[in-house]
This record gives sequence, structure tokens and C-alpha cells, in this order.
Amino acid sequence: MRSLTVLWLHAPAADDAHVMPIVEHGLSDSFRDFCAEAFNVRMPLEYPPLKLTTVSSPDALPQALFADGDPANGMTEGGDDACLFMVDDSLYGCSVCGVPLKEWLKVYIPALPRVVVTYPGNAPVAVPQRRWAKKPFEVFSSPGQHHERLVHLFKAFWLPRFWSAMRQYVQVKAGTNWHTPGHNGGNAFAASPFLRGLHEAFGSMIFRSDLSVSVESLGDLSSPEAQTPLSEAQRMSSEIFGSALSRYVTNGTSTSNKAMLMTLLKPGEVVLVDRNCHKSVHHAIVTAGAVPRYLPSRWNPRLCVWSPVSLAEIESELAESAPSKPRLLVLTSCTYEGVLYPVWEVARLCERAGVLFYADEAWAAYLGFHPFYTRACPETGRAVRYNAVSETLGAHFSVQSTHKTMAAFSQASMIHVSLRFKALLEEDASPQFRWLRRRFAMNGHGSFEKFTHDLHEFLRYWHSTSPHYPFLASLDVAGVQMRLEGMKLVDERLKWAAEFRARVAAECGLEEGECFAGLEDIAADGADWARDGYMKDPLKIVLMLKTPAACAAFKKALLKSHIQWEKATATTILFLVTVGTVEEHFEDLFRVCRINRDLIGAPGRDGGGMADSITRAVSGQPVVLPRHAALCDGEFVTLDASVGRIASQFLVPYPPGIPVFVPGLRITEAMVALVNGVIESEGVAAVHGLFCRGGHAPFYVEVLNRDEESRLLSGELKP
Ligand SMILES: Cc1ncc(COP(=O)(O)O)c(C=O)c1O
Repeated sequence: MRSLTVLWLHAPAADDAHVMPIVEHGLSDSFRDFCAEAFNVRMPLEYPPLKLTTVSSPDALPQALFADGDPANGMTEGGDDACLFMVDDSLYGCSVCGVPLKEWLKVYIPALPRVVVTYPGNAPVAVPQRRWAKKPFEVFSSPGQHHERLVHLFKAFWLPRFWSAMRQYVQVKAGTNWHTPGHNGGNAFAASPFLRGLHEAFGSMIFRSDLSVSVESLGDLSSPEAQTPLSEAQRMSSEIFGSALSRYVTNGTSTSNKAMLMTLLKPGEVVLVDRNCHKSVHHAIVTAGAVPRYLPSRWNPRLCVWSPVSLAEIESELAESAPSKPRLLVLTSCTYEGVLYPVWEVARLCERAGVLFYADEAWAAYLGFHPFYTRACPETGRAVRYNAVSETLGAHFSVQSTHKTMAAFSQASMIHVSLRFKALLEEDASPQFRWLRRRFAMNGHGSFEKFTHDLHEFLRYWHSTSPHYPFLASLDVAGVQMRLEGMKLVDERLKWAAEFRARVAAECGLEEGECFAGLEDIAADGADWARDGYMKDPLKIVLMLKTPAACAAFKKALLKSHIQWEKATATTILFLVTVGTVEEHFEDLFRVCRINRDLIGAPGRDGGGMADSITRAVSGQPVVLPRHAALCDGEFVTLDASVGRIASQFLVPYPPGIPVFVPGLRITEAMVALVNGVIESEGVAAVHGLFCRGGHAPFYVEVLNRDEESRLLSGELKP
């Protein structure tokens, strides 16, 4: 069984040999009781669930946490098991390798709860409000007497508020239900001679915890201001993710994007967006009535993936003020293939331009829980983090599909609003953000409360009024899990993934970079990506196959071994490593790689024709506001006859998997040729949005009718 580590930055004392075992046992006992209460786990008494590791000097902290003192090498055993950090008040103001301790902890172990241990007679410590709890030495040196206080402290750090309240309700308080949902705690199935197997297969708890907003004591997504277990859970998540505000969403990041963009953008305002962003961002732009200005899109024909946008391109687009100055920049970090943007650099550019930075982190909710996702800034010497929202410089907003890579049920998503955004609204006086302070103003001043009110209002537009309560509980617990054991979970997976890649490369007699796509393979030409701070997340394993035929054969072999990948292109297969991936999964995958090693290898260079045609097809900018084009009267025309007309719908061919037709774009020959090409090679079903009967030509697409076209063109991009 596994123990967790309490790290104590502690000035050595004469009676340590006597005191430390007492502290370790006391903490363990309290932690055991906490786990029994919070998670229903009875841990055997003979093993200590909490190990105490003391570190006597601040400069020894990196060695205690990271292999060879370097976060890039992964964690030490004690480091990756760390779940709580204590520091003596005499050491509280110290520096670690020249960086103030407070700053150092924010960068490297931001999610660990921290306690300042104050000694009798010492001057009081000025403890910041967030995340620090001040506890006197006696509590730890004689924990037997303070057992209840310690359990209470642990509850403050790790108790999943909503899950605990829901479990209590279901197991103790619930009686007969006269409310939705109609299966009524599963009775509908349990009483059926035909269907009760379903009840048994799912387990009774999933039905009994499927409650309704009628159970007022648990809370309601529609009233996040009320003091309920649901709002407390969201406050706890905000603390864990280092945000000023976090909100739970139960219809995926697709919904988070819609609510956020409607909150942030007014009709007619310009949003800078990577054309390769998720379709929900395109939908959100339509619903917000915003004007998209697409950042340059670069198709990588060798791997059939999209390159990220370079810093130079972002900088020049931020400076562009036609048709008007942008308000928001939306980037996907990391991309599906795992390219992480240097969010601190992007944030710096955005703040200089007075533009808000919004990161779609659907694929990367775990970045904040491991020091691997940091980078020492060469100019300042300070380290920064790759997770978009943190207490270091980053994006103003992030949305995460907690369900994609962390342990939440499908559809569970979170919105995080940064502390920096709150400060921009309430403390900053910079002229470039005057517009923002006016937008969310109360009594003439920028107000975070006003922003929060607006966000809640737009969340109510999109939330179901009947959210699935187990989704909410899984959001609560997924965050707490990362705080409690996230470092371990991410560290293990980083190590397994590295070992796996090395073994496959050795088996193939190739370099790792010839088997798995790295940053330069995906991002391709256009910038010095690594120097600019871009990084490839190793937990997105992109296996390269020599040819499309090799890729098809490899997929067949995977299916034969009952292995399902995340997504594939003509020459790559993406395997997603999540907190639920276990070591044996790598073994299963390795077996298929070994047998099929001849198929693995970097694909050759594409002739360039496809790249050119795709780039041309996605290079347009809208001439009519997308919302008007999507909602006004349109007419069906055949695909070939649509050239020159204005699209009123999305058409998304796979590949390239991004919208080629967008409401408001003038349709070009290149766009139609690309769609026709995909129909020919992949079949009509590969073009989402195309209308046809029985899968045969003619194919139809909706465009503005002539009257609407001339009416809207005269108003151009006005709301
Ligand atoms: C970048 C990105 N954003 C948002 C989403 C939507 O997330 P969800 O499936 O949680 O609605 C996805 C889904 O694949 C995505 O890839």
C-alpha cells in the first residue's frame, strides 16, 4: 500500500528525534480518520499513510522533490508522494535558490496545501489569505491531543464538499422521492423482471445519486451565489486550480466556451481565433455575434495535422486594428497533438495590446499538478508554468474538459478565471484595458462581481436545469484527487510514457524522434518553436507510421488486440495518456508495436499539393457577421453552384477537420474543390454538414439568399 508524504521545511531542533515519530503517527492517525469519513476507506493501522520528510534548508528543497534537483528529470519518491507542505515560521521569508519561497512554491507545487507552523513566542507571521493556514507548533508536536483539529484541517484541504454532502444525503437522509428523474432512484428498473440487470450493472448508487434540483440542500447550478455544498465545492476547485473563480459545467467544454464568449464579447467585436479551434468556439462566436479574425492556419501535410500559431504571427495580429481592435484572443493549448503554447509570452503580448487571452485547455487539465510543466525564463531567471491559469503570468481564462484527461465523468468541464483578470478589473489602471473596466462596471468602477454576475447569467442560458448530479460530484472529486495525489499520478505517467517510447524506438532500431512526433514534427517550419517556449506534452503520444497503408495496417493490428486509440490521421495515431491509464496499457501497446515494428517510422514529405489547396481553402475572412449569416433566410444550392455565394452554415470535411465553410464567408473555388476532394477520397459522410439524400450527388449546402446577401453586405460586419 502507498503512503503520502508530508514535507516539512523545518529548522532542526534538539528534540527532533523524539518529536518527529510522534508527529508522523499523529498525522497518520488523523489522516486515516479523515479518509474513513470522506472516502469511506478503512486503512489498516499497521501502515502509516502519511510519511513525514523534513528538509532542513530551503536550498535542499529541489533535491528533496526532484530527481537531481531538476524538475525536468521527474520527481523523487518523496516528491511525487507529497500531499502537504509545512514550513516553520522562521523559514517562511526565505528564498529557494535565489527565488522567494512563496514564489517558488507557486511555480513548482502550486496545488499542495501549505501550513505555516508557528512556534511559541515567535512573532506572528503575516499569512496571505489564500491557501495558507497558520497552525501553532503544539498541534503538530502533540497530535494526540489535537486529533480533531487535525482531522478538521485535513477536511479543509481535501474534503470533496459536494460528494460528501451528496453521499450523506443518499445514504442517510433520502426517503421516498416525489421528484425527477423518473427512474426514481432506480426503482423503475429494479422492479422490472426484464430490465433489472441494467440496475445491477450500473450499480444502485448511480441511480440513487441521480437527484434533482428539488433537493435544495445540495445546491443548484443555477444559483451559484447561494451557500451550498455545490458552491463550496466550486470554491475549493478554484483554490486547487489557483483561480479567482472556477465554475462547473455539465455539458462539456463545448458549453463552457459558449457561456464564456457570450460573457466576454459584445456583438460586432473582433475575436482573434485559430481557425483550427474546436467547433464549439466557432459556434460560440456565432451565438455571441462576434466577428472572428482568423489567425494564419498552417497545415502540416506530412503528418496531416495543424501547426500552432507562432508568437510572431500572434504579435502582428494583435497590432492589427482593422476592422476594429480585437478584444479577445482564443488559443487551444495544448493542441490535440499536445503542443503547448508559452502562455506567459502570449499573455505579455495580449496585455500590452489590451486584449484578453482565453485558453481552451480542453486536453490539458492536469498541467498545474506537476513541476515538469514549467520553464525557467532565460531573460528573467524566473520560472513560469504552462498551465494557462495559475498564480504566475498566464491567460485570463481557461476552460478544461475535466473528463478528457482527469477522472471525471464525460461532459464534466470547468471554467477558470484568473487572479490576474480580477486584478486587471479592480486594481489595474492601464489605459489599454479601460474598455474592460467599463464593460464590467459597478458604480463607475471595474467590478469582478459584475463580471461574475454576467457569467452566471450566460451559464444559465446554456446549463440544463436538470444537471446530472454524479457529474458534479465527479468534478469535485477529480479536483481533490489531483491536489491529494496529482503529482504522483502525473509523474508515473510521464515516466511510463518515456520508457514506452524508448522501448519502441529500441525495438524498431530507430531514434525516438523517428517513431514519435515531437514539437518540430508537428509545428513544422515557420518559427524556432522550442526557443520561443513551445513544448510538446509527452502525455499525448503521437506514433508515426511510414505510409498511409502502414497506418491502416497498424490500426487493424490494434483493433485485433482490442486497443482503441484516441484519433488517427493518414500517417499518425494519437494515444492519450490520462490519470486512469495504467502501466499494463503500455505493455499491451508495446506488444503491438513490437510485432508491427516495420510499419513504424517517420512518413516521407508530402508533395505539397494538398497543403497548398488546404491553406488556400481556409484563408478567407468573413464578409458578413457570422451570426446574421447563420440565422437569416438561406437557400440550398448545389455544392458546385455555391462558388461566389456567402455561406450560412458550417461545412467540416475530415481531413482537415476544421470548418472550411463558416457562416459569413464568401465561398471560393478552393473551398469547393477541397470539399469535393474529401467526398471523393473519404466519402460524403466525412463532410459534416453537407446535405444529400441517400449519400448520392447532388450535394447541397445552404447559402444566403440573394435578398439577404445584398441587405447584409450593405451593413457589412455591423451587429
Ligand atoms: C480544443 C477543444 N475544445 C473544446 C472541446 C469540447 O469539449 P467537450 O467534449 O468537453 O464538450 C474539444 C473536444 O474535443 C476540443 O478538442
